[in-house]
Amino acid sequence: MTKKNNQPIGVLDSGIGGLTIWKEIVNLLPHESTVYIADSKNCPYGSRPREEIYRLVRRLVQFLLEKQCKLIVLACNTITVSCLDTLRDEFPKVPIVGAVPVVKTAAEQTKNCKIGILSTTRTAKSKYQKDLIERFAGNCEVINFGTNKLVPLIEEGENNTSIIRIIEVKIQPFKDAGVDVLALGCSHFPLIRDQIQKILGSKVLVLDSGEAIGRQVKRVLQGRIQRANLSNKPWHEFYTTGKTERFSEILASIGYNKPVRKIDL
Ligand code: DGL
Repeated sequence: MTKKNNQPIGVLDSGIGGLTIWKEIVNLLPHESTVYIADSKNCPYGSRPREEIYRLVRRLVQFLLEKQCKLIVLACNTITVSCLDTLRDEFPKVPIVGAVPVVKTAAEQTKNCKIGILSTTRTAKSKYQKDLIERFAGNCEVINFGTNKLVPLIEEGENNTSIIRIIEVKIQPFKDAGVDVLALGCSHFPLIRDQIQKILGSKVLVLDSGEAIGRQVKRVLQGRIQRANLSNKPWHEFYTTGKTERFSEILASIGYNKPVRKIDL
């Protein structure tokens, strides 16, 4: 094992949602160490101008680079559609993997060729997402709909009733259109997957993208930089710019009782 193999994978998100992707990365790459940074103080990003998102994300990337990360995962669709290309230009030395909804799988799974994508408003309106739909689901009817109301409630751990009330409203266009597959285009949404599924009904397939992003990370590590760990004793560090309690709660809910450190960036 070379020293480089001990470098962690860096994962960033505006908040806790990226943990839904982090856990898939750790499942698929159990020998890898990771550093996760959540910008919970500034979450949600979805309603901010692109320039501001970029300014906020840059400092998260710099933090992960200071931690010697060998690869960075943008575990946030909103950040990916706003900043992926610019970040790759500014930080060319480290591979950067983005998060996108599994449009291709959704198009493969739909029986009636009607798929839905639920994300933040910025993601739903982005050219990045439109191109993705055109490429993989151009022959399907795609209801591409965004809301900025859910992320802050999930982030704050708001009670279930207010979350369900919003889901009911936001899910209605998908129901009206008769979609039989819904791709979640925001890393926070798997955390309310059960509520979404209940409101949509059991006949609609709800897809999140964590596993696909985990597989992409594995491919990049094995193919491009050949620094995948095979026998290391992995470690995981968690940082947030906001409150640690909610972060720890979500981390515990996915089976990890690890310390979460608050930092100012
Ligand atoms: N988890 C982010 C995403 O995937 C949430 C964005 C936000 O902070 O609004 O889009």
